[in-house]
Amino acid sequence: MKHEKIETNSGLLIVLTLIVISIGGLVEIVPLYLIDSTVETVKVEGKDTIRPYTPLELAGRDIYLREGCYTCHSQMIRPFRDEALRYGHYSLAAESQYDHPFQWGSKRTGPDLARVGGKYSNQWHVQHLIAPRSVVPESIMPNYPWLMDTLLRYKDMPARMRALKKVGVPYSETEEEYQANVERFGEEVAGWLDIRRAEQNLLKQAVAGNYDGDNSDVTEMDALVAYLQVLGTMVDFSKFDEGYFASFR
Ligand code: HEC
Repeated sequence: MKHEKIETNSGLLIVLTLIVISIGGLVEIVPLYLIDSTVETVKVEGKDTIRPYTPLELAGRDIYLREGCYTCHSQMIRPFRDEALRYGHYSLAAESQYDHPFQWGSKRTGPDLARVGGKYSNQWHVQHLIAPRSVVPESIMPNYPWLMDTLLRYKDMPARMRALKKVGVPYSETEEEYQANVERFGEEVAGWLDIRRAEQNLLKQAVAGNYDGDNSDVTEMDALVAYLQVLGTMVDFSKFDEGYFASFR
């Protein structure tokens, strides 16, 4: 039998297996490169509304990674009715296009945080991070009291932004790049994305936002809360065409 020939000849079996697997792989991967909507563009009045993080938000994101918040929290709402009802509109690929690495995850010891921005006040976040059980008695989230006492180190923000720029995040460092960002995101956002003004911008946002409720210094709490408050807020879903998945809501 032909079958026996294949099964008793490991060389032939390997070659045929590889051929079959490559066909499967190509069928899955090739379409992603051919359709335009793998990462959808979200524009309002001609400008991209999904933007890279400001220096302060980026510092907060780095603290989120350092503290391992992702071990309990995912940041991806799947297109299922129960998820949309609990967390809001399902996540778009475009929303994590500037996240390196992205924070999707699948482990949810705590709730998904993809749209936590604006859900609570800054004050709530500060209290919750210092002592979660003081606001949610049944919580099993750890306390992070040091965030409030640790001054934010931000001298290395330009280097961190440059590293992300290398992998395609449009932070600007020259006048041309800045102008391109003005075209793409509008003047105000372009200003926040300018590496040359990173430190100045970080302090400006921290003072204006007063995220930790204490404006005498800039702490890690300021950065982390600024990050949490921007999560999931960049797309105005009343203006975005939801397309096919609208039927899930
Ligand atoms: C051991 C798992 C665990 C870790 C680690 C953890 N959390 Fe949580 N988190 C939870 C649980 C459980 C809840 C739900 C109860 C509550 O609100 O405290 C929660 C709730 C939250 C909420 C409220 C979400 C909502 O929609 O109500 C935020 C915000 C949050 N965590 C942020 C963080 C941040 C930031 C970090 C890292 C500094 C972190 N968590 C680390 C388990 C964790």
